[in-house]
Amino acid sequence: FDPTALSDALPLPLYLQLARHLRTLIVEGRLTDQDALPGERELAETFGVSRVTVRKALRELIAEGLLHQRQGAGTFINRSPHVEQRLSALTSFTEDIGGRGLKPDSRWLSRSVATATPEEAMALGLRPGAEVVRLHRLRLADGTPLAIELSALPTSVLPDPDLVQGSLYETLRGRGHPPFRALQRLSAIRLPADQATLLGVPDGAPALYIERRTFLENGTPLEFVRSHYRGDAYDFVVELSLV
Ligand code: GLP
Repeated sequence: FDPTALSDALPLPLYLQLARHLRTLIVEGRLTDQDALPGERELAETFGVSRVTVRKALRELIAEGLLHQRQGAGTFINRSPHVEQRLSALTSFTEDIGGRGLKPDSRWLSRSVATATPEEAMALGLRPGAEVVRLHRLRLADGTPLAIELSALPTSVLPDPDLVQGSLYETLRGRGHPPFRALQRLSAIRLPADQATLLGVPDGAPALYIERRTFLENGTPLEFVRSHYRGDAYDFVVELSLV
């Protein structure tokens, strides 16, 4: 903590200066050795401000999703795993997260067999009215939600959603339908309230909307995925070469 970061001479209220200072320390990972912040009184003394100022600063950071408070226990930093992912490798969430020594997990939001929407039928090369299996999952790493994925697959490759217990790609490989190639589109969005709540971030937080269409080696469409990846948790990395 750097008490000189705050100054009465600045045109910014003290609580916002304090929030800014703490935000920088948290976002830059400079408080990694501690999960809890010091108590309000200690922070007030450290920075030479009132406890009201400390409380207002903490409230700002809680609203931003950087901190949370537990009754009687104190104020804690929200640790989110940070994932650097190669854009050009066709990997599964389970592989991406497991490969980083984190524990991949899913929470089912829904799973069903349903009539393909026109968009799904088009993406999967199905005739209108064909059935698809839909898997809607919250994806977690070490218990922290990172992404929401809605996958649609033709029932010819996956007749029953209950066949998927852990990894979808594992299941597909086991059934003789290994994902071979994919086309992916990424766009920047702000998360709508319901998705933000599931991901544990504030409404309107930045995210990447990713659409993936995956194919078998013979070109048959395998899955159509619409997903929302937390903007604060992912860096997508791609290698460029002269064409
Ligand atoms: C990644 C991809 C998804 C794919 C998923 C499969 O997250 N973005 O398009 O459906 O992996 O993951 P898993 O095999 O862990 O279920």
